[in-house]
Amino acid sequence: MNYKNPDEHGYYGEFGGAFIPEMLYPNVEELQKNYLEIIESEEFQNEYQDLLKNYVGRATPLYFAKNLSHKYNTQIYLKREDLNHTGAHKINNALGQVLLAKRLGKTRIIAETGAGQHGVATATACALLGLECIVYMGEIDIQRQAPNVARMKMLGAEVIPATSGSKTLKDAVNEALRDWINNPVTTHYVIGSVVGPHPFPDLVARFQSIISKEIREQLKEKIGRENPDYVIACVGGGSNAAGTFYHFVEEKEVKIIAAEAGGLGVDSGKSAATTFLGTLGVLHGSKSLVMQTGDGQVIEPHSISAGLDYPGIGPFHAHLFKEKRAEFFSINDEEALQSAFELTKLEGIIPALESSHALAVLDKKKFKENDIVVICLSGRGDKDMETYLREIRS
Ligand SMILES: Cc1ncc(COP(=O)(O)O)c(C=O)c1O
Repeated sequence: MNYKNPDEHGYYGEFGGAFIPEMLYPNVEELQKNYLEIIESEEFQNEYQDLLKNYVGRATPLYFAKNLSHKYNTQIYLKREDLNHTGAHKINNALGQVLLAKRLGKTRIIAETGAGQHGVATATACALLGLECIVYMGEIDIQRQAPNVARMKMLGAEVIPATSGSKTLKDAVNEALRDWINNPVTTHYVIGSVVGPHPFPDLVARFQSIISKEIREQLKEKIGRENPDYVIACVGGGSNAAGTFYHFVEEKEVKIIAAEAGGLGVDSGKSAATTFLGTLGVLHGSKSLVMQTGDGQVIEPHSISAGLDYPGIGPFHAHLFKEKRAEFFSINDEEALQSAFELTKLEGIIPALESSHALAVLDKKKFKENDIVVICLSGRGDKDMETYLREIRS
């Protein structure tokens, strides 16, 4: 079974495809026809790899977390995506897509953002490569991730609030899709996760796959073998997880763990744990698991972390879940907060709230003493300081 790549219509098993209004057809078809040829060309790879190395700062370290390992009596390595330029894994994809957009002759970039990391990464790539940038962001997220809003503005992007629905990530995606329909010729939509119509899930997974490529090389150097026993990552739409799992999904001995946002608890009515609560449906252009009512209305999600506050998951992950190739955990707000404080205290690293959901798996699952456990630290916690400080005070 091939987990890594979709079929020619963009399907991972029964999930994926391109469910789009007619007006978007030319854009999506243009991408479908051209993305692989462009991104696999030597000329593209030379420019992209050079930027990843000299601008983003890759390879990111694979850090053996001695104190955390001691506490959980296992061997824990952190893949330090938080050390990328702009503070998260999102730049791997944003730079790749903006380079692709330029080659397609686009002059205007739109993006959605939840935690603001993808918005900042896209605004950064646009500043560097000289393209106009518009970022849609839910009104609630604009409030809770204020430092990233300021950064986007300083980088020259226009930040447009999404004021419908729960005023979070899903609503920002809706606004961005609406914009793309109205500006089909000049504009490329830089989707920030492995969601959306084919080819976006595959395109984003390929740009993020550098994470597991490096993990393999770094493990080989450190412990003499490429495969760990476990890889763990948090899942919003699923891009850091797709990147962390990519080169391991066909390696049977590597166990895969995904952490979803449980919010106040899966049964609380305030959750974003899609694999626990979702059913087969179509959201933002692809068929996947979606949190929805019996008649197909999307249920408003909740998570303390803006980047995981999404009522769906990418088709790649829905397939891993359905086939039981990955084990999914639901991590509540409170558990993620505890893990953020624990990592800070034990290792001197302040993680993003999203990444803290992946760390919290350590409290849910018992690992053996010799297990090699790699956790993707998808981003740094600077943007979440207000939330963390509120917790310290209360
Ligand atoms: C640091 C960080 N981690 C994880 C995520 C979740 O996104 P994804 O599931 O696409 O990796 C976000 C989203 O904004 C983020 O900022």
